[in-house]
Amino acid sequence: MTVTTPDFDLRLRQVAADLEALLTDLLSDSPRAGEIARPVPLLSAMRHAALDGGKRLRPFLVVETAALFGGNEKAALRVGAALECLHCYSLVHDDLPAMDDDDLRRGKPTVHIAFDEATAILAGDSLLTYAFDIIAAAETELPDHAKVALTLELARAAGVGGMAGGQALDLAAEKQTPDEAGIITLQSMKTGALIRYACEAGAVIGGASAEERGRLRQFGALIGRAFQLADDLLDLTSDAATLGKAAGKDAARGKGTLVGLKGQAWAEAELTRLVSEAGAILAPHGEKAAVLLETAAFVANRKS
Ligand code: IPE
Ligand code: IPE
Ligand code: MG
Ligand code: MG
Ligand code: MG
Repeated sequence: MTVTTPDFDLRLRQVAADLEALLTDLLSDSPRAGEIARPVPLLSAMRHAALDGGKRLRPFLVVETAALFGGNEKAALRVGAALECLHCYSLVHDDLPAMDDDDLRRGKPTVHIAFDEATAILAGDSLLTYAFDIIAAAETELPDHAKVALTLELARAAGVGGMAGGQALDLAAEKQTPDEAGIITLQSMKTGALIRYACEAGAVIGGASAEERGRLRQFGALIGRAFQLADDLLDLTSDAATLGKAAGKDAARGKGTLVGLKGQAWAEAELTRLVSEAGAILAPHGEKAAVLLETAAFVANRKS
């Protein structure tokens, strides 16, 4: 099993700290230009969902893929913050009673428990729309054509053909277990799409060629699949204290997962395979892709 290096851990922590500072500012009390007011309970729920927690993997991927192409670091962090807001929205809604009905997230009560269901729905809505605001805002110093591409791809990654569509398939799969191909589609949508976006976004920010962009998209799709496979394994093998969220829920709810369908040993071998396939895609980038290769290993070997 590959263990991440101290350099990697430091870099991950540094990006997470930079992101926390940026999100704290973006979610501050004062209304931004064009906003009328920021209702305090809703803003508090958004902060509860987005601040102080999580691995911050998606922003890290945006920042590191942008770095691979020498992209603007400040703009990459802002796009990472936008994606993290959207991811946090997906978690708030995923935890709702109508969906997975969970009361623990990132070691804290979920938003509908700490606040109420209506506030959780609206906090999710507000984080989703804020993501597009953050990308389009003047403070994100990128050419307009890059902003349009980042907006379009994020809308597609998040919507009916991406995360939200995948969540619908996931809920349907509680009733009727799909086959292996069906589960791969479901997981590539509900989880893979945002992780794939993170990698492609970095390439767009760095002004990469269409070929490079396609390569990063492929890399992201593979580690996205690995990420959900690891999540399903952890649900089976870990505990709430380690994960900061409930464990053992997938089997209890009859979720269609590859771990459930093919077993733990198969899933562990598949994780190794996906990580090495992802690594091979980045071979043309040589040593410059070292951090991204470590990120792929981190996705597979993480403990929470
Ligand atoms: C959890 O994502 C939801 C899935 C897509 C499996 P993460 O494991 O990245 O959650 P945080 O952001 O670290 O809390
Ligand atoms: C969630 O998948 C994927 C999302 C789009 C949020 P899970 O339902 O497995 O995520 P956890 O285990 O609750 O974090
Ligand atoms: Mg779910
Ligand atoms: Mg869930
Ligand atoms: Mg899960």
